[in-house]
Amino acid sequence: MRAWSVAVPPERAEEVRRKLLAGDLLMKRLRIVRDGDRILLPTSRRVDLGFPTEERAFEEGFAAVRSYKDLIVIPDALRPSLPSSFDVVGDVAVIRLPKEIRPFRSAVGAAILRWNPRLRVVLEDRGVAGPNRVRRVEGIAGEARATTVHVEHGLRYRVDLAHAYFSPRLAAERKRVADSVGDGETVADPFAGVGPYAILIAKRRRPRVVYASDANPMAIDLLRANAAMNRADRVDIRPGDARIVLRDIAPVDRVILDLPHSALDFLPDAFAALGRAGIVHLYGILESAEEAERETAVRSIAHGAGLEVKDLRRRHVRAYSPSQFHTAFDVTVARA
Ligand SMILES: C[S@@+](CC[C@H](N)C(=O)[O-])C[C@H]1O[C@@H](n2cnc3c(N)ncnc32)[C@H](O)[C@@H]1O
Repeated sequence: MRAWSVAVPPERAEEVRRKLLAGDLLMKRLRIVRDGDRILLPTSRRVDLGFPTEERAFEEGFAAVRSYKDLIVIPDALRPSLPSSFDVVGDVAVIRLPKEIRPFRSAVGAAILRWNPRLRVVLEDRGVAGPNRVRRVEGIAGEARATTVHVEHGLRYRVDLAHAYFSPRLAAERKRVADSVGDGETVADPFAGVGPYAILIAKRRRPRVVYASDANPMAIDLLRANAAMNRADRVDIRPGDARIVLRDIAPVDRVILDLPHSALDFLPDAFAALGRAGIVHLYGILESAEEAERETAVRSIAHGAGLEVKDLRRRHVRAYSPSQFHTAFDVTVARA
């Protein structure tokens, strides 16, 4: 590959290399060349350090590439805005871009694919929207698809990031909830998406049945495929609205209300679906200061449903924004 370089005497090479590195100007993936009594240090642009400069061909080297950022050619002023991380779903990278980076999104995508050749698609994540929580995505590099197969806790999931919700960031929370399921339980997962809670519980625990439902027909198609692919026989799929499904399947022992922006609206339905006692996993996107208020609302809804709250625990699943957390409330209740 052709690149600009700084030609320095060997005794100054280390000093200049460090200076270039500090300024993020050294092309770390290109091999440094010795040419007679000069050392040629490849740079991302022409750099004037008082040494001769030269444009020439360099071999790709074996320098440790720690990030896609080491491979991208972008104006230096924008480097601090490059995202430090992105999600990986199967062989698809999903990245959020600040607006100043958007004009360079193809360069970002190409750098990610070069950084990790196992990735075949790079999608820009333009946020989750609408009642079905579908992500708006735009292909910025690689194959033109948003479908892939993702492995989580040893189980395989078909996902279609353009048509049904899926986030790999909730893997640990799904495991936490699944681990708490007891033998013979009847579990309801009314916001099941493509099935990562329901199938994990059915395959790794010994429930009587896990009712999995969703209002998005595309999610239901994937859920069916995933239950079959993982031979999750104890998953009973019920397409449709959570309220109707919860009414039809009652009584259950546990309800997972994984619709963080509006789960509280469904709490009366979840409580009504429980038998003599049970647990609801309720999620919310909240400022820390709102959490106590949410607990008060939960207690009041339980009271209104004729239930006694035996235990109420909360934990942060992950930071959602600089001031908000995705918070889990585990509510254990019994008929009063
Ligand atoms: C945040 S996603 C969670 C998906 C899944 N639990 C997971 O971990 O990937 C919420 C899901 O609820 C579904 N949904 C939204 N409103 C619904 C409703 N009223 N009844 C049933 N499903 C609904 C959406 O289609 C979406 O798949």
